Amino acid sequence: MKSWDAIVVGAGIIGLSLAIALRKQGLRVLVVERAEPGHEASWAAAGMLVGNGEELPLPLRTLAVESSRMYPEFVHELEDESGQKIDFRDDGTIFISREGKFPGGAELLTEQKLEFIEPAIAFDTKDVGRRATASATNSALPLGTNGLAAYVSEHSVDPRSLLSAGIKAARHRGVDISSGTEVKAVLIENSRATGVKTDKTSYAAPIVVNCAGAWAACIAPYKFPVRPVKGQMLAVVGGPAIKHVIRGDEVYMVPRSDGRIVIGSTLEDAGYDKKVNVETIQRLFQAAVNLVPELSKSRKHEDWAGLRPGTPDELPILGETDSKGHFIASGHYRDGILLAPVTAKVMTDLILNKSASLDLSALSPARFSDQAHPDDIGARRD
Ligand code: GLY
Repeated sequence: MKSWDAIVVGAGIIGLSLAIALRKQGLRVLVVERAEPGHEASWAAAGMLVGNGEELPLPLRTLAVESSRMYPEFVHELEDESGQKIDFRDDGTIFISREGKFPGGAELLTEQKLEFIEPAIAFDTKDVGRRATASATNSALPLGTNGLAAYVSEHSVDPRSLLSAGIKAARHRGVDISSGTEVKAVLIENSRATGVKTDKTSYAAPIVVNCAGAWAACIAPYKFPVRPVKGQMLAVVGGPAIKHVIRGDEVYMVPRSDGRIVIGSTLEDAGYDKKVNVETIQRLFQAAVNLVPELSKSRKHEDWAGLRPGTPDELPILGETDSKGHFIASGHYRDGILLAPVTAKVMTDLILNKSASLDLSALSPARFSDQAHPDDIGARRD
């Protein structure tokens, strides 16, 4: 049986980032992917990097801030090693909310701060008291009633360019990637990981990390409570030149540097179904037009759905299981793209027995030990 120092199950952004980080520490790493590398939740993601973490559950905030801090260097390295450009933008986010619900640190946009407002965004210019307004001099503006606006300085990234660079960088570093190979089980002997059993063969390694995202629960013998949460999205072209990410109460828009505008998204409990629904896509588009009327001139370029890895408490599962050498880094739900650099760092620290630089206790797999126990003796080497 071929052997490696570590096997990473799943070639999404979490698996690839971790594989690269482990390889940098000198480990021989194999990534095993059931489908096409980088083509599930990571490929489907919008790529908003919520910088200060204020919107995230408390136990994630320190990680989010650290990951955000790491992002420019993370992108730079992947670009360097892949020779590919990643669309990483730092134009910030405009929040528009009827109720004025903004993340902490948001700067309310008043009339004095109109330089932030995109001319294409609709605002009710009659009610300028506490409201942010579009420039009253811009008579071409269709008027809407979208409430308050605020600005947050944060980045966005095109996950597809990120993933494509990540795959190239991993290969360039000497990470082995096996695609179209489904891991059925982690092999465990005497409470220690010894490798993985796939639909075709077995591979040996003393370290196995489950980074299978929404499929993390499908790998025996542990049944981690990770479930797919479907998100439908579309991209339009030919619309206004939007500079900032725009987030409304019902919809968000993320501009790409090539002119596409990504519009999302739904949160659906639909199992592993990735079909898109015409009415749902139309509803998302209309919600976006309500905020940015000039979008009505745009045309649909593409629609798709992805499966986020959700957990019961909406927190990732990061750590070692009660089988030595069997780790999990999955369940990043809506923030896998943001949390990839810090996840790679903390998991590498854990795997190499270095002291973890951040407190991961709230994210430990032990919190699901009553649900995620090794119950399948068929998963043991046979
Ligand atoms: N991270 C964006 C979403 O989950 O829709």
